[in-house]
Amino acid sequence: MITYNEEKKLFKLDTSSTSYIFKIGRYGHPEHIYYGKKLHDGDFTALELKNGIMLGSSVDYCEGADGYSLDNILLEYSGIGKGDYRHSPIELIMPDGSFVCDFVFREYKIEKGGYQAKELPTAEGGDETLSLVLCDKKYPGITLTLHYTVFGDCDVIARNAVLGNTEEKEIYIRKLMSFSLDFPTSGYDMITLNGSWAKEAHLSRRRVAPGLLVNDSTTGASSNRHNPGFLLAACGSDEEHGAVYGFNLVYSGNHYSAVECGPFNTVRIMSGINPHCFLWRLKSGESFETPQAVMSYSDGGTNGFSDRMHRFVNSHIVRGKYKLSERPIVINNWEATFFNFNRRKILALAGRAKKLGIEMLVLDDGWFGKRNSDTCGLGDWTVNKKKLPGGITGLCKKINSMGLRFGLWFEPECVNEDSELYRAHPDWAIKVSGRAPGIGRNQLVLDLTRKEVREYIVEAVDAVLSSCNVEYVKWDYNRHISDSFSPSLKMQGEFSHRYILGLYEILGELFHKRHPEILLESCSSGGNRFDLGMLCYSPQIWTSDNTDPIERLDIQGGIYLLYPPSTVSNHVSMAPHQQTLRETALSTRFNVAAFGVLGYELDFSELTPEERREIREQVAFYKAHRRTFQFGRLRCVPMQKEGQISWQTGDENESVAGVFQRIAKACPPRDNLRIAGLDASSEYTVSSVRQYARIRRFGALVKHILPFPLRADGFILRTADKYYALTDGAEEYRAYGDALSAGINLAMQYEGTGYAPSLRLYGDFGSGLYIVNKITEKEEENG
Ligand code: DGJ
Repeated sequence: MITYNEEKKLFKLDTSSTSYIFKIGRYGHPEHIYYGKKLHDGDFTALELKNGIMLGSSVDYCEGADGYSLDNILLEYSGIGKGDYRHSPIELIMPDGSFVCDFVFREYKIEKGGYQAKELPTAEGGDETLSLVLCDKKYPGITLTLHYTVFGDCDVIARNAVLGNTEEKEIYIRKLMSFSLDFPTSGYDMITLNGSWAKEAHLSRRRVAPGLLVNDSTTGASSNRHNPGFLLAACGSDEEHGAVYGFNLVYSGNHYSAVECGPFNTVRIMSGINPHCFLWRLKSGESFETPQAVMSYSDGGTNGFSDRMHRFVNSHIVRGKYKLSERPIVINNWEATFFNFNRRKILALAGRAKKLGIEMLVLDDGWFGKRNSDTCGLGDWTVNKKKLPGGITGLCKKINSMGLRFGLWFEPECVNEDSELYRAHPDWAIKVSGRAPGIGRNQLVLDLTRKEVREYIVEAVDAVLSSCNVEYVKWDYNRHISDSFSPSLKMQGEFSHRYILGLYEILGELFHKRHPEILLESCSSGGNRFDLGMLCYSPQIWTSDNTDPIERLDIQGGIYLLYPPSTVSNHVSMAPHQQTLRETALSTRFNVAAFGVLGYELDFSELTPEERREIREQVAFYKAHRRTFQFGRLRCVPMQKEGQISWQTGDENESVAGVFQRIAKACPPRDNLRIAGLDASSEYTVSSVRQYARIRRFGALVKHILPFPLRADGFILRTADKYYALTDGAEEYRAYGDALSAGINLAMQYEGTGYAPSLRLYGDFGSGLYIVNKITEKEEENG
């Protein structure tokens, strides 16, 4: 709910559990008062920052201001050049050529529903939107409208800013943040998600100390280096306790967020399009809209914050047919074949996948043009008949007739120089005339700021999608942009943003208008574009090219801070792993991948019958609990032992808890697993999910348990390993929710003195899943 108190000039925005309060100050500036836990309506003078005396070198707002200096005021959005020396969210070249701008209150309106942008994706729904119109004191035709939308059910507030120009002269935007927010005190850590290719979303926690912390991207995309989302967590807060604020942008391009601890320990937070190489001409009569930023607050630690953001993304960002609906289990041929496939190989893979219960085959890179490696063919979206003689149509029909759905890979934003498309339109690739362009994965990026390029992409992709029953598209994008320049633009400072607007136009046309029934999974060399902008078009995102489950603990664990498991696409792949050479149990690969949208990406013919049986059981288990894995409330519950973590997902009726261990220790302390989120006064069953340990894992150790000598690498044990495996960690309990939240003392781990089916054979990189079910009255009666 949004209210305005005319007398106090005070705005109060309430969600179910939070309040956001600001007022119009004595010279017309919107002054921030409070954001946090929900407050009763009342007088908030006690909360205001007090300023009454001019301080040393500070600059008062105007003559007679008596100590009223913008530098000491908490502002909703600051201007430039009027005494506030903190970083400003705005930098304009004004009609008089100066940078000085000073926006003050003109009018407001509160309307039902959310904010709709003209060209950018925005969150769907929303209860009410406040539009606060400010205008520059010298040039009243230059307006800054701050939009605030309240999503009460998820405790989220969305903000963005729109700059309008009705002055006669054009102005130039060098920087225009989506929002700015000042807190009265410091005492926070900034949590960001950083990395690179195959190492996305690693969490970093830094103290907010005097100075500026910046989290940004200049790659042309939201990037695998620094995700646009970040958190401010009270020092000392953890997963389950303490105040946590979090912010994210509905944007997929160059982003910029800054947290500044000022001279009076006030904290200024801002986020928006990166000012790096940004310069936008705003002619008379035009307006510029910034991407929507979303924020939430919880006093329940990072888990509390993530729950709010997850509900928001599932209900207001993801849209269309797959919103809140279960996603299929895929087999993707990439890591099974790379470019080396033909129709026979794909059908064999599909046949095996079908027998294991998998629901969809996704044909990855290499099906088009002369694409036999990553050096050629990209851009030519016609089928390679040598590999697929019956075309995509024939293959798709055959796959469907086998009882599988069909999905297809594209990378439409890029082009190889060795392609028909490039030979026909070399000027469509991004480069600066007179400079040899930078090359990424042997390819260039197409200039999406140009209409004819966008039209080509839409028609080329549409032709394939309209030719057969493609039910899923993987939209890849495998490099950063370099040599930014477009001959179609007068202002090159507009390039990066116009590229993203072009991308949104293409995705909207293809997947909102022409093929809304298709499930889009976006990808960018893995998670190089994992952001809320892409999620407005693609309900799920390929999280990382790194499918090693132990690496994924960091990657998925970071992503879950801001994005729900329903958006996180994970595949079980081969061990040893292609990037780390790490050998991990099939159970661990599944146990990690199951927390989100599950798929497989390996050649089943390389597996033993026993491993295939295990996969069949995994798939059946995942299907039975798919909603819990994709849409349950996910928590990261701390374990006592270093190197162990627990992810738990579900609700108070059913939940699944995963325990993951990095490195084994001899004679370890016992493991204690607290199950969160249960109803204290209901009774539950807890069962470990069946999993197996390969005999070969024990190597020559088997001789200690067998009454007769056998060689570890001999025929008998190799054959036994193919058809038999040991039960790993079979446990069952029954207890009330309060007891389970106090912590289950789990069965012992393998410690070298014997084997029992209940023993958890974790070793290095081991894990287990527990399914927790509330006992219903009926089950109780039936005993
Ligand atoms: C990068 C993706 O992340 C991979 O999954 C795969 O689709 C390759 N591109 C194909 O070129």
